[in-house]
Amino acid sequence: MKKVPLHKPYWGFKEIFQVIKTILLKKGGGGGPFGELVEKKICELLNIKFAFLCNSGTSALEMSLMALNLSDGFEAILPAFTFVSTANAVVRERGIPVFVDIEETTYNIDTKLIEKKITKKTKVIIPVHYAGVGCKMDEILAISKKYNLFVIEDAAHAFGSKYKTKYLGTFGDLGCYSFHITKNLTCGEGGCCVTDNEELAEIIETIRDKGTDRQKFLRKEVSEYKWVSKGSNFLMSDILAGILYQQINRLNKINKLRRKKAIYLWEKLKNEIREEIILPELNEFKESNWHIFAIRVKNEEYRNKLIEYLNKKGIQASFHYLPLHLSPFVQKNYNYKPGDFPITELVAKTLIRIPLYPQISYREINYIVKSIKEGIYKIKHDK
Ligand SMILES: Cc1ncc(COP(=O)(O)O)c(C=O)c1O
Repeated sequence: MKKVPLHKPYWGFKEIFQVIKTILLKKGGGGGPFGELVEKKICELLNIKFAFLCNSGTSALEMSLMALNLSDGFEAILPAFTFVSTANAVVRERGIPVFVDIEETTYNIDTKLIEKKITKKTKVIIPVHYAGVGCKMDEILAISKKYNLFVIEDAAHAFGSKYKTKYLGTFGDLGCYSFHITKNLTCGEGGCCVTDNEELAEIIETIRDKGTDRQKFLRKEVSEYKWVSKGSNFLMSDILAGILYQQINRLNKINKLRRKKAIYLWEKLKNEIREEIILPELNEFKESNWHIFAIRVKNEEYRNKLIEYLNKKGIQASFHYLPLHLSPFVQKNYNYKPGDFPITELVAKTLIRIPLYPQISYREINYIVKSIKEGIYKIKHDK
């Protein structure tokens, strides 16, 4: 059996021809024709007013936090189990990340714990839709309304996922997606920020373009463009936007195939390995794009041994986030200790990501299940 990678982009000739076409058209800068087409498509698909492509999910989060223009020392509530970019975007704006534990079923922020963390300095909640499964957005929006807080959804995993029939990323004031090479839709590196708020949209358009009103100039709304606010170059190259254009055309197929393969893998694991592993809660994935297939085992040692065994078999199974509150940066700058977020710590120690991509073959899935079974047997009998 050949190696089974954790992810594989679903790219084909359409993406190749698109790159050639963009080059032949001598396009490639940010805010070009393909970028505009993609933004229009995203707005139509998600039923949202504004979409801003940018060069990563990290940039989408950074633009969002910048756009809120909060005063130094503001607090942002976010899960302890997330990628560093969610928190970094807060720190870069001189805010303080305030961590909250997660639910054991979805690995999303535990909404019951949010209110306890709200202080006078709290200005924003940043829920993260882990694996493309929606956080409890009705509860988060109710809290944000009660305390007058902004909501920025970190929907890096969740393009095309829904929560109660509405697309994730479109609930909050701002929503952020990633099109990194590991994501369901990808152009290598990329992101997008969406909003229905006209005022925030105007600010983001400026921030994304070095803090200038260049986009207004290009639309002939002003006669020359000027430096009008803080900003950076967050634009996505039109070569990458072209790839993304083709990927968005494939969205339904990609997410359908991921679902089909994920359910096959889930059922096979359920039928063949009755004990020893905790499977994802199928109910929670009804509206998800199946960005991640993760199982859990009983402890860290067991987890590491199983990953090692699978890696030896050529299967690129992997751990995922390390708890952010225990990271060297947070330990140096804020006041958190081991045990503060028991579910985050438990999940981080016991989770294994299993390869999943649209074109994974049933043979490969069978091989993964067989290898997990063998690995478990080996761990049990090597003692
Ligand atoms: C939850 C979350 N937020 C943000 C990001 C950052 O996205 P990007 O890699 O496109 O910068 C990631 C990356 O995987 C992520 O997992």
